[in-house]
Formats: sequence, C-alpha cells, structure tokens
Amino acid sequence: MNLGQLMQGKQHPDTPGVTIATPRAYELFGDVCFFGRRSRAFTRLAELSGAEPGHRVLDVGCGTGYLTRRMAARVGPDGAVTGVDPSTPVLDYARRKKQRPGSASCTYQGGIAEALDLPDAAFDTVVTSLMLHHLPEDLRPAALREMRRVLRPGGRLLVVEFRPPKSRAGRHLVHGGAGHAMAHNRVDLLEGLIADAGLEVTGQGEVRPWLCYVQAQRTRQ
Ligand SMILES: C[S@@+](CC[C@H](N)C(=O)[O-])C[C@H]1O[C@@H](n2cnc3c(N)ncnc32)[C@H](O)[C@@H]1O
Repeated sequence: MNLGQLMQGKQHPDTPGVTIATPRAYELFGDVCFFGRRSRAFTRLAELSGAEPGHRVLDVGCGTGYLTRRMAARVGPDGAVTGVDPSTPVLDYARRKKQRPGSASCTYQGGIAEALDLPDAAFDTVVTSLMLHHLPEDLRPAALREMRRVLRPGGRLLVVEFRPPKSRAGRHLVHGGAGHAMAHNRVDLLEGLIADAGLEVTGQGEVRPWLCYVQAQRTRQ
C-alpha cells in the first residue's frame, strides 16, 4: 500500500472518483512534497487564475481548501468563493481553517465535478487543482463540460495538475509513494480535453516543483 492509498476514503456512493479521507495526513504530505514551496506555488496559481477583486470563484475538488483560501485572498472582501468536494472530512477541515483578513468568505459544499449542483453561468472564475487525475479517464470530459457550464461567458478556467518526473526512476518513486494515477498522469492530453469541452485554451505553463497548468476561457458564443 502506498501513501496515496492510505489517505483515500471508501468508495463514495456518488462518484467513482478517488476521495481523500484524512485531511491532516494530506496536508502533511502536501507540505513535505513541496519542499517548503507550497504556499508560494499556490499563491502563484491564484494569480494565474486571472481572478480579480469582487469575482465569484468556484474551486472544484477543493479538498482541504488550500487553493480556495488563496483564491479568497485574491478576490478580497467583495468576492465570494465556493469549494466543492465529495469528501465530508476534507470539507469539515476546510471550514475550520482561518482565513486571512481581507479575504472573501469561503463556502464549502458537498458535490462532484462530473455533475455539479450549481447554476449555469454563476462564476467568473473556476479553478481545479490536482483533482482531474482522481477521476476515471472517461469522466474527465464531463467534469470539464460542467466547469464550462457554470462559468459565465468570458469567464476563466485554471486547471492544475501534477506533472510527473520525466525520468523513469523519478516516475518509479512517485508510483511507489502516490500511485499510478500520479506517476503516469497524461498532462499532455489536458489542452485537448479542455478544448473539446468547448473552452478556448489561452495559456499553459509550469509552477515548480511539480505542477503544470492550463488556462482557458469560456468564449461568448
Ligand atoms: C489531491 S486532492 C486535491 C485537493 C485540492 N484541490 C488541492 O489542490 O490540495 C483531490 C481531491 O479531489 C477530490 N475528488 C475526488 N473525486 C471527486 C469528484 N468526483 N469530484 C470532485 N472532487 C473529487 C478528492 O476528495 C480530493 O479532495
């Protein structure tokens, strides 16, 4: 059994996605894996989302709310941030975390990426970090179509994923520590999946040490 499997919950009744059941262990794992650069990396992701003060933001697969809180700081007190995740333990953990002064309020609700219980065009910005590889491949297109649906025309999407090491030895290590989905994450397919969901890809890049991202926009048609 690897560390990733230790943090997982039982199969959730609403989704075949792999949920996280141990928020404290997940946070520790995240801090260790980012070598002290986690906060800097996720603050940079919040900038890359293109969210502005006053925006309504959705974080899909928000987990412990690490990015959600940084999005709340970015959009400020006139904004609003919603985090969605199927796992009750991570949502309870996120609700207990203090926010930085001057942040938007964060609301957390149970839900699944592939069928969001949220209205059409309700958000200016949608972010999702390290969630897509938790879904079976055949559900990823539906999840991205849902993110498009809840974005207003002109709204922006930021998809963040784990970029596996290029070396065989590095991937072997990741496989042992976190499992197949991370070690063999097909981040090269992301742009095509996002475009197929009806979004215009506007940028892509990497945030050290392990993340890659794709920026997209819901065009007005
Ligand atoms: C690796 S964690 C990432 C959490 C957070 N976004 C972050 O960057 O730290 C993946 C999250 O996806 C959630 N997840 C699993 N299946 C999901 C689904 N069908 N819809 C939404 N989230 C899901 C898990 O419960 C977990 O919290």
